[in-house]
Amino acid sequence: MSADDYLLNTYARYPVEFVYGRGAYLYDAEGQDYLDFLSGIAVCNFGHQHPFITERTAAQLHRLWHTSNLFLSGGQAVLAKQLCERAGCAFAFFSNSGTEANEAAIKLARKWGAGRYHIITAEGGFHGRSMGSLSATAQPKFWKGFFPMLEGFSSVPFGDTDAAENAIRLETVAIMIEPIQGESGIRFPPEDYLRSLRTICDRHDLLLIMDEVQTGMGRTGKYFAHQWSSIQPDIITLAKGIANGLPLGATLCSHKVGAVIQPSDHGSTFGGNPVAVAAAVAVQELLTEEILDENSMNGKRIQDGLSELSIPGIQEIRGSGLMIGVELEPGISAKAVARKLLADHVVVGTSGESVLRLLPPFVITEKEIDRFLDSIYLTLCEQERVPA
Ligand SMILES: Cc1ncc(COP(=O)(O)O)c(C=O)c1O
Repeated sequence: MSADDYLLNTYARYPVEFVYGRGAYLYDAEGQDYLDFLSGIAVCNFGHQHPFITERTAAQLHRLWHTSNLFLSGGQAVLAKQLCERAGCAFAFFSNSGTEANEAAIKLARKWGAGRYHIITAEGGFHGRSMGSLSATAQPKFWKGFFPMLEGFSSVPFGDTDAAENAIRLETVAIMIEPIQGESGIRFPPEDYLRSLRTICDRHDLLLIMDEVQTGMGRTGKYFAHQWSSIQPDIITLAKGIANGLPLGATLCSHKVGAVIQPSDHGSTFGGNPVAVAAAVAVQELLTEEILDENSMNGKRIQDGLSELSIPGIQEIRGSGLMIGVELEPGISAKAVARKLLADHVVVGTSGESVLRLLPPFVITEKEIDRFLDSIYLTLCEQERVPA
């Protein structure tokens, strides 16, 4: 039997199956190790089988799995406090994924808007695959085959504050963006972009919704990437790294937004599951200022290493902390390079045709960085170019 016989054809999978993980390494059935520079796409931030997270999660696994959200169970209240304090928010709602965290954000904005419903998004953004989050995802390639999209979204170029302000109409309630666009190639906006959006939102009484699903949880060297711009969003969405690999999403909001929500306005059977929450509380305890500084330092080491080696085929390197995009020169396929790196037992991601996406776990050391640099150097030296 091949996996493709029964699994829906939603992913172009690599021809490797991992059976075990420890720290920054994954292992196949033959026990061969692979250096993980992807972390399950910014999920297993503290590496695989982190002893503290595993111990806390296993303890909850042996205590209680699920009670429904009709009862308070596990550490939901503790986690809500930890996240809200770090994010400057008042309330947290827990779900199971990034797309659900964004669905909740859209519903919160509409309820707060009391009739206003229109949300301005950024071209190239990615917010998830459910119909609301997909409608907010201004990338028509993801819409193909699934029309009609949900009403009430319009997009403007990422980084263009004038376009965002010009798109405001009577029904507009919010601007929703990622602080750094992850899925479309680790794309950074101009430096004062988030601050300008905050000003626009205040001027027009709009909510600023920050999708930190990929950028949050310390990845960029701050708890949340928008904190580099010293602004306070009204709603923040989280998932991916929040529970180091167990499914959990969170939507954080300010007091004025949360105050409009009543029982039965929103909900989730599994959201805030006690086992996932136990992992997330452990992650919060590990996520110290020292770790954030180390992420910044290791990110710089990787970027400096890539630049100093003068590796052929690299057009641009951009990043913040351990979220790094390597833009390849035209004619070099990022997927082909990722496959060659995998053959050399190094796991990386890609974005679009030309960007290698590096999202290593926070537990990497100089040894792992050196192994990665050696591998990418040799791989790109040998990589064929397709003439443009
Ligand atoms: C910024 C952002 N938002 C939302 C999502 C959707 O998250 P999920 O796949 O957990 O639904 C992703 C996933 O890549 C993302 O990068």
